[in-house]
Amino acid sequence: MIVVQGTRPLSGTVKIQGSKNAVLPMMAAALLHEGTTVFTNVPRIQDVFCMMGILRFIGCVCRLDGHVLSVDASRILRAEIPEEYMKAMRSSIMMLGALLARQGEALTRYPGGCLIGSRPIDLHIKALKTLGAEITEEAGNIYARTERLRGAEIHFPYPSVGATENALLAAVLADGTTRITGAAKEPEIQELCLLLNQMGGRIFGIGTDRLTVEGVKRLSGAVRKVPGDRIVAGTYLAAVLACGGDARLEGVNPDHMEAVVSAFESCGGRIETGIDDLEISASGRPEAFEIITGPYPDFPTDLQSPAMTVMATARGESRIVENVFENRYRTAAELEKMGANIRICGKEAFIRGVGPTPGLLGAHVTAWDLRGGAALVTAGLAARGTTAIDGCCHIHRGYEDICLDLAGLGAGIQDGGGEKRMVSGAGLQDQQEGFRKRVDDR
Ligand code: UD1
Repeated sequence: MIVVQGTRPLSGTVKIQGSKNAVLPMMAAALLHEGTTVFTNVPRIQDVFCMMGILRFIGCVCRLDGHVLSVDASRILRAEIPEEYMKAMRSSIMMLGALLARQGEALTRYPGGCLIGSRPIDLHIKALKTLGAEITEEAGNIYARTERLRGAEIHFPYPSVGATENALLAAVLADGTTRITGAAKEPEIQELCLLLNQMGGRIFGIGTDRLTVEGVKRLSGAVRKVPGDRIVAGTYLAAVLACGGDARLEGVNPDHMEAVVSAFESCGGRIETGIDDLEISASGRPEAFEIITGPYPDFPTDLQSPAMTVMATARGESRIVENVFENRYRTAAELEKMGANIRICGKEAFIRGVGPTPGLLGAHVTAWDLRGGAALVTAGLAARGTTAIDGCCHIHRGYEDICLDLAGLGAGIQDGGGEKRMVSGAGLQDQQEGFRKRVDDR
């Protein structure tokens, strides 16, 4: 449980952690090199521990020393991903493409992750089939195999981030050339392409929705820095807007945050951008504003909930259109427990700001997903009295230490602990046994 004492202005400097959504596909890419790949600026978050668990289960030797992670994929023992990991983290699905490329087969279950929508994986499956994988799905199991992946034309009708990453991971070692159209353009995909090219891959069109991948025979190792997390930076911008104050966020590329900066300026934030830092100052209540989420470069769905918190304190009525995930309004009911005035109409939300009297009021609330949890922490910072947030296991999936970061800005915030965290490798033996049994029973 995280406990927050609200209404203190925020001020100071935060070093932004490495990006969750960048490091996870990068870790999957490490599987494609029969040797060691090293990542620096790795966030110490639950999703990284979970991905380390998967890599270890497969046979890799992973070592996380501070924020430096080495993955030695010299020896692969099996091509299976245990159900426990798939349930814990949806991104584990991207291991499918990497395992197919490395081992010619992969066995897993349907993925889990945040409860923010139905989150199908049809685009992943279709792309891998197009590259020559045979995939059978039965009773929640997914079994993929291939003699050889072959370059092909892949078109995504929707720019899915994960499916684009899976296609890239599979295509980079395929025979011949793959052309991907309708690809997602998120900065994290650009990072994956840059890593793969550093390892010897031949990917062209990086940063566009038309990627060309010329398959190569093998990849070599690399040492690569994980970029700063634009979503964590956006969360802290939202916190300063909701509470007032000024903060400098270091270690994140503002070029990747244009839609966020523009939305947060439209409600009164004054934001200066540097090469790898941002400074924000805000005073008084924010003005009402509008966001429409969409694939990059549009406003990121991951910052929709933190933006909703800002809107809950703003002057006038704000509007959100959520175009990416259909269930991403669950946090609204929790914000209402704190006095927020929110009306949901399909994929639109209308938020009439409250305050300053009585404004948001401290309450006992529950995080139902990762970014919704961060939004509740932000609301607690802006609310009178004490807010207690349960369900913080979701927050730990993506924020290394949100309490430490915000306390460094002067917030009254404490992580009361008491929630189970996954430690990579712990209990793995049991999980392996259970998974093996289910595989044998198949
Ligand atoms: C990634 C991010 C997540 C972010 C999301 C959208 C990671 C680890 N996670 O998730 O933080 O919120 O991008 O920016 O990088 N879809 C299908 N079929 C598919 C795949 C996706 O219909 O096969 C739909 C989803 O249901 C959703 C939309 O496409 O409505 C976007 O999903 P996608 O871009 O794939 O998100 P993720 O890769 O899961």
